[in-house]
Amino acid sequence: MRKTFLTIFTACGLLAAFAQPTANGISIIPAPVSLTPGQGSFTLPKTIAIESGVQQSQAITDLQTHLTAATGYKVVLAKSGMPATIHLTLNKSVNTTLGDEGYDLSVAATGITIKANKPAGLFYGVQTLLQLLPKEIESRTVVKGVAWQVPFVTIRDYPRFGWRGLMLDVSRHFFTKQEVKDFIDEMVKYKYNLLHWHLTDDQGWRIEIKALPKLTEVGAWNAKREGRFGTFSAPAADEPRNYGGFYTQDDIKEMVQYAAARFVDILPEVDIPGHSLAAIAAYPELSCTEGADKYRVNSGDKFMNWYPGGFSAIIDNTLCPANEKVYPFLDKVFTEVAALFPFGYIHVGGDECAKNFWEKSDAIRQLMQKENLKNMQEVQSYFEKRVEKIVESKGKKVIGWDEILEGGLAPNAAVMSWRGIKGGIEAAKQGHQVVMSPTTFVYLDYMQGDAIIEPPVYATLRLNTAYSFEPVPDGVDPSLIKGGQANLWTEQVYNTRHLQYMIWPRSLAVAECLWSPKEKKSWTDFVRRTEATFQRMDIQQIKYARSLYDVAFTAKKDPSASDSLSIGLSTEVPGLDIYYSFDNSNPDSFYPKYAHPLTVPKDADMLKVITYRDGRPIGRQLDMPINELKRRAGLKDKPVPPAE
Ligand code: ACM
Repeated sequence: MRKTFLTIFTACGLLAAFAQPTANGISIIPAPVSLTPGQGSFTLPKTIAIESGVQQSQAITDLQTHLTAATGYKVVLAKSGMPATIHLTLNKSVNTTLGDEGYDLSVAATGITIKANKPAGLFYGVQTLLQLLPKEIESRTVVKGVAWQVPFVTIRDYPRFGWRGLMLDVSRHFFTKQEVKDFIDEMVKYKYNLLHWHLTDDQGWRIEIKALPKLTEVGAWNAKREGRFGTFSAPAADEPRNYGGFYTQDDIKEMVQYAAARFVDILPEVDIPGHSLAAIAAYPELSCTEGADKYRVNSGDKFMNWYPGGFSAIIDNTLCPANEKVYPFLDKVFTEVAALFPFGYIHVGGDECAKNFWEKSDAIRQLMQKENLKNMQEVQSYFEKRVEKIVESKGKKVIGWDEILEGGLAPNAAVMSWRGIKGGIEAAKQGHQVVMSPTTFVYLDYMQGDAIIEPPVYATLRLNTAYSFEPVPDGVDPSLIKGGQANLWTEQVYNTRHLQYMIWPRSLAVAECLWSPKEKKSWTDFVRRTEATFQRMDIQQIKYARSLYDVAFTAKKDPSASDSLSIGLSTEVPGLDIYYSFDNSNPDSFYPKYAHPLTVPKDADMLKVITYRDGRPIGRQLDMPINELKRRAGLKDKPVPPAE
């Protein structure tokens, strides 16, 4: 067995060594602007010399770390005059096509050259080079028997958008400094350049504010619960609140530096005036509601009512716009936040602010009279405009979720459009800057396959839908669309393994939507490159979702019979075979192969499906109750008799 394996392995190695690289054999995500494959490949020498036009760069460190660990070869920095294997060169005269983040990469018989206008371009060129190397380059230990070759190729590459973000919510579940660094390390491989750090919410305030110590003494801690977040039992009054954490200001400085070295900006978010229960638990005087001194940081127990098309708060989790104590509080918060984060924007939230307590508040009624505010949206708009003044007084610009449009947008605010793209279109029409981040394409907390098998969340976003994300809507001035961003809310994400599962591979799809030219996108080729990336992730032990291989169901009423069902089966990945059973046994490739919509045999109560490729199972087996499909089709359930 072992011998056979080795023989195959060696044969594959030789084949790889002699293979003529073609565009098809190269798997770079996001797809470069242009890539011209050559004939042959460059073999790394046993001593790899790197010559660099920049000192102390993360590009060199990344190269050195990977090459040393995986090849076991000697990697040295070339002294001047010494022949080099890899050249990292800053252009003497600026190439305007490449901009600040673009690069030219060439691999030829003479070696590897990356040229860029700025260090960021060299860094991205190195990320591409790592993807050109054999997948074993991702190993942290030496891998023997690999032909360390790079295909001859010429690449010119630069991004479509300057804002290529991933949002990480560290409030619902806290992630340590090291975990956030790991997140940054992964995102830059696919040329993301912005971490939106959701630092405050009802479940935790995660950033030390020295002038307001209770924000983290009280606001960073709740009671640990596991299971379905949002349905937990409320903690008892004397239950220890020791679950959570926060980043000290030194931690934040370290993270900002870590990110900057990798050309990542950090956008801090302080989510106000809604989503503020942690702040109110620390400083109840910021509320308009009596009894706020009894409020506690939420531990995942129900405190909001969500219903189709709306919501209301059961506990008032808002900062009160009519309460003059709120504004000096925010001044203190933003003074420190602005000093910690060099990025030009601060995100001020603005989303999902329940108004039902404001509607009952005398203070709000008086504010409305005094300021001539007609409705609750205008009350929020009044608040947002004051917040903008505070943030601008610290030398920063404001960005907020698209609710900040309601009741009138603050004069200079940028909008992050999440409830679809409508808000973004409206903001752009008003001449404001926009970042597109719609639930429909980029919400990474949503399930990525059928609810019958995925960890439960209230909505689904499949990989192929994420891949169809287009940040610039028709008719909108593209210069106002700064870019886009995918968001990972972490109500249901308790640990980094599941975090990885949720972000990969959908963040590969979004990375390509944000970096690559629109006309370069190809779903079939993206799937091929994603599968090649999975092999790299396996070596790195990064978890990713394989939901793209699973069956997707459509359930419709069969028009030919009033109470019966027509079941469509499909897969995101082209060319998979689907096998199925209605008899409760587990299907394999000897079972019926799906060819056209199915009707349910009389009395069957379960449809089991599985996908195969080239005769081997590739997707997970999904066991779908017929009653569930009936429910989805709007048909009545049929009672299921007990098993004999
Ligand atoms: C959001 O998803 N509430 C911005």
